[in-house]
Amino acid sequence: MKKRALVLTGGGDCPGLNAVIRAIVRRASQEKDWEIIGSIQAFDGILREPTEVVILDKNAVSGIHVRGGTIIGTTNKGGPFAWPIKNKDGSWSSVDRSDEMIRKLQYMEVDAVINIGGDGSQRISQALYEKGLNIIGVPKTIDNDLSATDFTFGFQTAVQIATEAVDKLVTTAASHNRVLILEVMGRGAGWIALHSAIAGGADVCLIPEIPYDINSVVNKINTRFNKGKGFANIVIAEGAITKDGTQVYEKSNEVGYANIRLGGVALKLMHELKAAGCDADMRETVLGHLQRGGMPNAYDRILATQFGVKAFEMVLEGKFGEMVAYRHPEITSVPLKDAINNYNFISANSYLLKTARGIGICLGD
Ligand code: F6P
Repeated sequence: MKKRALVLTGGGDCPGLNAVIRAIVRRASQEKDWEIIGSIQAFDGILREPTEVVILDKNAVSGIHVRGGTIIGTTNKGGPFAWPIKNKDGSWSSVDRSDEMIRKLQYMEVDAVINIGGDGSQRISQALYEKGLNIIGVPKTIDNDLSATDFTFGFQTAVQIATEAVDKLVTTAASHNRVLILEVMGRGAGWIALHSAIAGGADVCLIPEIPYDINSVVNKINTRFNKGKGFANIVIAEGAITKDGTQVYEKSNEVGYANIRLGGVALKLMHELKAAGCDADMRETVLGHLQRGGMPNAYDRILATQFGVKAFEMVLEGKFGEMVAYRHPEITSVPLKDAINNYNFISANSYLLKTARGIGICLGD
């Protein structure tokens, strides 16, 4: 009888998930006594009746390392500790189905679980580990906001996509003598914004780590226009905050979802610039989910493949309750409980910020 590892992808998707799945399966296929199954849409596949799982053998994962998304689906809604249920009156509430799920996994003779996901998913991993489940985490997010790893896969691809957007906006800004504002993702961290602003040669970059003063942005734009550079490009992170602490988000009461959705800060910035006396022609672009779709770049394929091989080796070593991590130059592991405690923000003394300032990018402070 073979041992069985269950793989799942949770939270928002990101380029490289399929490369992790393929690497786990290929590494496991070198062991005679292991088989890999995948749960559809994170833990939902286990919690649904009938159960939705797929066998992941070498055929099933052939060539998927180049594909975006995840072949086993994902969700960032609900989960075993907060399963949404519709009440008779049409309202929604949530129930904890974690014990039931662990019993089901025992019945399915699952020996190990590999949970590929961001901080929300790894919180679930830690809570399930504390309940006795043999679980290993693999970090993923385009936001690069997990502190236990130097980089998450998906981030470099998102930076590439954002940089290409800056490149395109620079040419149209120059043609029209406009100020063009690009809003990129990243939640509470400015990694995608800062990397793409440097790579694309933006003039202003606003990130959540540095609350911005609108007058500083107006001064930068005016200086450029006065020097005869009749256009400017701004990259703003979706989580950017004004000096008075305002952030743009929508609140949703939908059960199972995080109730704050960032987005819309580029439009707000445009109005603020106008109100502060900037009379240039302006337009805003929200890059949105384009940053999460499509092929992973080579870097992310390689990092994801390393994470997949490491995750299965951790299964063989019984390193449960830990998460794969990249600490240059090693692929290593850290306890899940440490991994979920700290976010990875851009620190005030980082060389990346120094670089941005060094080439004259205005950071809004
Ligand atoms: O965490 C990844 C991310 O893409 C964030 O950058 C963004 O704020 C969020 O997910 C969007 O989530 P959703 O796909 O649920 O709108």
